[in-house]
Amino acid sequence: MKRLSKKLCLYFFIFFIFVFIFVFTSKNNNDLKNYDEMFKTFYNYQKYDDLNGPKISMDDSNLVRKLREHFLVKPIKESKGKRIRYNLSNMSEKDPSMGQATEIAKILDYTKGGFFIECGALDGETRSNTLYFERYYGWTGLLIEADPLNFVKMLNKGRQAYLSPSCLSVNPYPEIVSFLQRSNMGRIADDEVVEDEVISNTFETKKSPMINVQCFPLYTYLLALNITVIDYFSLDVEGSELNVLKTIPFDKIDIKTLSVEFFHVKEGDDGVRSFLETININTKCIILYNLMPRCAVFCVLLMS
Ligand SMILES: *[C@@H]1O[C@H](CO)[C@@H](O)[C@H](O)[C@H]1NC(C)=O
Ligand SMILES: *[C@@H]1O[C@H](CO)[C@@H](O)[C@H](O)[C@H]1NC(C)=O
Ligand SMILES: *[C@@H]1O[C@H](CO)[C@@H](O)[C@H](O)[C@H]1NC(C)=O
Repeated sequence: MKRLSKKLCLYFFIFFIFVFIFVFTSKNNNDLKNYDEMFKTFYNYQKYDDLNGPKISMDDSNLVRKLREHFLVKPIKESKGKRIRYNLSNMSEKDPSMGQATEIAKILDYTKGGFFIECGALDGETRSNTLYFERYYGWTGLLIEADPLNFVKMLNKGRQAYLSPSCLSVNPYPEIVSFLQRSNMGRIADDEVVEDEVISNTFETKKSPMINVQCFPLYTYLLALNITVIDYFSLDVEGSELNVLKTIPFDKIDIKTLSVEFFHVKEGDDGVRSFLETININTKCIILYNLMPRCAVFCVLLMS
């Protein structure tokens, strides 16, 4: 009897140790849905402000580890392998993109799943170019969003993808940048872009708040996720698109389809197009689009 209770005691002790370890080491998504908690976790760079600048290469193994361990939120999976429940503002809207998903679906065999990268991802629902593929065809991917006000909303949407509270570098190395917080028109402050009247009228007079955000080159994300093939890359970063494209080692990765917003790019759609034509890229479809003033204008370049 005495031995049995000793054993029981020991089991309980071990059990509580495990519970303790679990509770205090797992930062789950529910904690992060609170804005302050999320902000403290991801936007506090005192701990991780090293590994920035031109001397750090995009495949530096410490950098890849930093991104993987501190700037990626893994997809939440409901227990027993069931798909998670989406928590969208409009559950009946199947495809919130402005036509991009339909164009991509014409090119790819999208029904068998795939991997996407979307940047900026906003809240993961509004005008999302990738939600349709994820929700109805089991795709997964990576959603990159720099603005913490958008990022915390995205955490609530139940997206089945990796989420990253960071930005794509406009240089071939990692850096912390000043980011203008402007809802769906946020951008890297120092990059030279074309501003339109809507933005100038809405934001310039009010002065947008700025915030420090950690950027990584696209290739570093791929190394952190251990992937080389992207079925669809949606790039919409309010003017920095061409500079982001210039950092990509196209010989090391395979981007099957690509959409790029060019409206705010200083070099215009011609600049983006001629850059993409000079590199040896086996992308099947590139969509250059313009969302202003109202509707999407597509010019589809079919390569190969
Ligand atoms: C939700 O999406 C559907 C389908 O696109 C649309 O008809 C409806 O107006 C939307 N509802 C709201 C509240 O925006
Ligand atoms: C659903 O989203 C709302 C905000 O849009 C949030 O307040 C709520 O906590 C979310 N619910 C779940 C279960 O994540
Ligand atoms: C990365 O992916 C390759 C090929 O898919 C696989 O062989 C390798 O084990 C993976 N490495 C890690 C660290 O997951």
